[in-house]
Amino acid sequence: MTRKPVLASRFAAVAARDAETEAFAHDVTAGLSNTPKRIPPKYFYDSEGSRLFEEITQTPEYYPTRSEHEILRLQAGAIVQHFPTGAALVEFGSGACIKVRFLLDAARKLKAYVPVDISGDFLAAEAAALRKDYPNLAILPVAADFMKPFALPDAVSGLPKIGFFPGSTIGNFEPHEACTFLRHAGTILGRGAVMVVGVDLIKDEAVLNAAYNDRAGVTARFNLNVLRRINRELGGNFKLAGFEHHAFYNRERKRVEMHLASRLRQKVTIAGSTFEFRAGETIHTENSYKYTPESFAALARGAGWSLLDNWTDAKGNFAVCALVLPALSDR
Ligand code: SAH
Ligand code: AVI
Repeated sequence: MTRKPVLASRFAAVAARDAETEAFAHDVTAGLSNTPKRIPPKYFYDSEGSRLFEEITQTPEYYPTRSEHEILRLQAGAIVQHFPTGAALVEFGSGACIKVRFLLDAARKLKAYVPVDISGDFLAAEAAALRKDYPNLAILPVAADFMKPFALPDAVSGLPKIGFFPGSTIGNFEPHEACTFLRHAGTILGRGAVMVVGVDLIKDEAVLNAAYNDRAGVTARFNLNVLRRINRELGGNFKLAGFEHHAFYNRERKRVEMHLASRLRQKVTIAGSTFEFRAGETIHTENSYKYTPESFAALARGAGWSLLDNWTDAKGNFAVCALVLPALSDR
């Protein structure tokens, strides 16, 4: 009697995976056919990519995580003052679900936590670990691409919503995409919602360059992992030794760029298509835009959100911004 639904959900899961692989193949072949070549950064995050990102956060050079922890540790009480009681906290790109603990500990009256992440297996494992520490909180993970429409669990439909988007993941979008994302988040969270966003700030270029070129080479491994993923999931034949990690701050565009540079002239075949590389030619794999609190507030305003409050760490490296999406009657 119970077999049918189980089978149906298994088929649905297999179909979803097939659709994801097809989209991955499409994006990679389109991106490598482009001039300059590029691969969207969301494809870094298979389980190994998620693990490598966590390793980056432990390197001495990668200041954003430590800076944001400092702010959340000292300001969690002030941040949660903006939360309505009985709300659902929706985190976009939750990764290892570490930063949210500062907010969960300070805001005792939350009803649910909805971590949303594209790295599905990693998300399931992190949500299971969090459940052990917060047995009275409904923890409802959603494996989804947050740039596309997705549904929140039915269980939170009647609750006020709070958004949480830490890590400066918003910096990985082009500014116009960040605006689209904020509008889309506003539709998901609803009028009157509050959203807490982590934003990496413009600073000394030496600090930025070091953060994306750690001496232990973890960021390089994170960057190269996308080629390993293409080989495994799309039957590609990238030789990883033929590419090297390049990361640098682009002052004009206020962003750190990550590339994979071909060490030699070579051809690579992926899903039946062949791509030629000149020696030194790069695949642009990520941008990490840096803002000032003012430039970020202006961007958010363009998407309909107003700045309620913001906090920085003692060194002024990073900002946590609380935004509100005014109710129609407040505008
Ligand atoms: N919030 C964590 C993790 C940041 S790493 C922190 O602050 O430390 C960026 C996270 O966003 C990863 O977990 C990655 O899997 C997720 N992510 C990246 N692009 C995504 C997308 N398009 N949709 C959903 N999740 C995405
Ligand atoms: C997730 N994101 C904000 C990180 C960043 O700093 O742009 C990803 C990363 N790329 C290299 N190191 C870390």
